[in-house]
Amino acid sequence: MAFPGASSSAAGYNLLHPLLSFIINIMMFLGNTVFIFSMLCLVDLDDYASTVFLLGLIDALAAAPAGELVAQIPRPAANKAEATATVDRMMRFLASHGVVTCSTDEGAAPAPDGSSTVLRRYAKRPVCRWLSATNNGEGSLAALAMFGFQQPFLNPWQHMAEAVLSGGVAFEMANGMPAFEYMGKNPQLSALYNQAMSQLSLLVCRKMLEGRFTAVGGFDDIQVLVDVGGGAGTALGMIPSRYKHIKGINFDLPFVISQTKPIPGVEHVGGNMLDYVPSGDAVFMKSVLHLLDDDDCVKLLNSCYWSVPEKGKVIAMEVVLPATPETTQAGRFPFQFDIICLLNGLKGGRERTEQEYARLATGAGFRTPIRSTAVFGAYWVLEFIK
Ligand SMILES: C[S@@+](CC[C@H](N)C(=O)[O-])C[C@H]1O[C@@H](n2cnc3c(N)ncnc32)[C@H](O)[C@@H]1O
Repeated sequence: MAFPGASSSAAGYNLLHPLLSFIINIMMFLGNTVFIFSMLCLVDLDDYASTVFLLGLIDALAAAPAGELVAQIPRPAANKAEATATVDRMMRFLASHGVVTCSTDEGAAPAPDGSSTVLRRYAKRPVCRWLSATNNGEGSLAALAMFGFQQPFLNPWQHMAEAVLSGGVAFEMANGMPAFEYMGKNPQLSALYNQAMSQLSLLVCRKMLEGRFTAVGGFDDIQVLVDVGGGAGTALGMIPSRYKHIKGINFDLPFVISQTKPIPGVEHVGGNMLDYVPSGDAVFMKSVLHLLDDDDCVKLLNSCYWSVPEKGKVIAMEVVLPATPETTQAGRFPFQFDIICLLNGLKGGRERTEQEYARLATGAGFRTPIRSTAVFGAYWVLEFIK
């Protein structure tokens, strides 16, 4: 079906709006339910998961000595019996999606009314480690899942249709300002966001450092590496820990830098990447270009161009879109991320294809062809050489 173009006429608007709302409701349902799990090529899960994370059940499961737990509440609940039954319903939902195993205890005592009761026992499956709070430092998706369900990031769905028609940004319509400005005024939200990004970086950057990108010598000739939009500095901290000769500069907005902790081999610097980029032998950027529209991408990449020496490079790690959508669980992930950019990102932020990134890089002065390496899931490393 060809999608009709947005019409400015009243009749066109009235026809288009219900259709848009319908599509957006479907997107919201699918986007919210499968985002986290598609990354692991797993099953869909809805926002019960957020409640489960809040109750700490996944961590409780992972910490259970025998790896097994009868459904129970780790925090005091007003009505324990009712709460236990509610959590049992959540756990069996997770069991139906293969997140935990469920076995029934035939020997359970009958209920007071004489009816038989079945006691369900749950045990973690290997996937639970990606849902625990820290996963022993290997990266976790728990903070990302929690972040995605924070109210300021859910409300924009209600404004999506208006945003499409008016050309505005749904997050700004819902919250009155762009996302990073909003987080600058909400330190707890910002801390959760940085935690979510850090945990994701631990997961993805470990793959980068262990994988093919390292094998072709990606970081070998670099003395000073600038991470633009580096957040808490987690990704940058991983690089000097493997490449001892590298000094890292973690560059991010001042309110983000004010929340960082010291990292060996890394200097934290606050500033606005659209004003300037600190000098180094190379620039690393993970999940930053997707924040910006094409013009700002070229502007930022051009600042990077002038901040590195001749033959210096930008190492950009981004989700890369295939030109045609794929229907596999893993194949959906980049398109879901793109919808998150559309919903909550800055104006014009988007996921892009390899060709689109190549065009932006050459527009900023870098050589062709760019060098591209698939790292993990839809994450690619794109090298732009000066
Ligand atoms: C998607 S996060 C990625 C964080 C980190 N690179 C990672 O992957 O874990 C984008 C980062 O860009 C930073 N950022 C956004 N606008 C910026 C600006 N104008 N100048 C510097 N940093 C900015 C945000 O604060 C945030 O830390």
